[in-house]
Amino acid sequence: MADTAVNAALGAAVNTAAGSGSSATVAAEPLLQLDGLTKRYGALVAVDNVSMQVADGEVRAVIGPNGAGKTTLFHLITGVVKPTMGRVRFAGEDITGLPAHRICQRGLSRTFQLTSLFPEMSARENTTLAAQARHPRRWQPFGGSGVFSQARAVGDAALEQLGLAHVADRPAGLLSHGDQRLLEVAMAMSQQPKVLLLDEPTQGLSVEETAQAVDTLARFLDKARVTVLLVEHDMEVVFRLAHKITVLHRGGVIADGAPAAVKADARVQEAYLGGMD
Ligand SMILES: Nc1ncnc2c1ncn2[C@@H]1O[C@H](COP(=O)(O)OP(=O)(O)O)[C@@H](O)[C@H]1O
Ligand SMILES: [Mg+2]
Repeated sequence: MADTAVNAALGAAVNTAAGSGSSATVAAEPLLQLDGLTKRYGALVAVDNVSMQVADGEVRAVIGPNGAGKTTLFHLITGVVKPTMGRVRFAGEDITGLPAHRICQRGLSRTFQLTSLFPEMSARENTTLAAQARHPRRWQPFGGSGVFSQARAVGDAALEQLGLAHVADRPAGLLSHGDQRLLEVAMAMSQQPKVLLLDEPTQGLSVEETAQAVDTLARFLDKARVTVLLVEHDMEVVFRLAHKITVLHRGGVIADGAPAAVKADARVQEAYLGGMD
């Protein structure tokens, strides 16, 4: 009978209790739920009927070879691109087709596969701006300096979380490549998201830089109370960071589950051995 009503009520309870680590005995509605999400570009199906659930507090990775549809999937979730078909539900609400800034204000913050920071501004100025950006009203003149210092404090906390406090006053463009990628994560965290979406956070980094950045990310994810959706083509990175993995291949889901099961999946091995660099 009222399964959906129960789920809706639970979803609402989870929302108001934000991050209280509730010990509900009935499974709550997933924080993020995709139903049959599809994006066509002419004859090409970039994302093909993808359904997926991300629970509150989960670190979920979406992996797949280049061209599998990972970035497009992020664009669909964050409102950058509108789906051809399918729905996105977040915290019990249908957010399909909402403009990107509305989705961000609801608590989904993302990094981009290509860098998006302001190189001439300090790391701290970048995170302060990001903290203000989620709350446009803070820009209004009567917001005052209290609002600014609040944004800066939130940004500083994010820098601390990503191990960047010691470079806070340096121009972002002068940071190491690894620290620049971590700064982008800090900028997304400055928006105090419920779900953090990371698009290939180690892309463009050398092997050593990747190892360092992944260490920092692992420590951060251990402590942070945030749900994560991570897009990555590097399997090793994914296996270190994710609780659950969804594998995309040619736009469609070919496996979904715990890392060990996904790793052992014959279709996954075939897709990777046949389709990866
Ligand atoms: N704006 C677009 N117009 C046409 N084709 C696109 C567009 N964006 C992505 N694609 C195509 O969709 C497929 C998936 O791309 P993408 O989501 O970037 O994959 P991934 O991030 O997994 O490498 C690719 O074949 C890509 O060329
Ligand atoms: Mg991509």
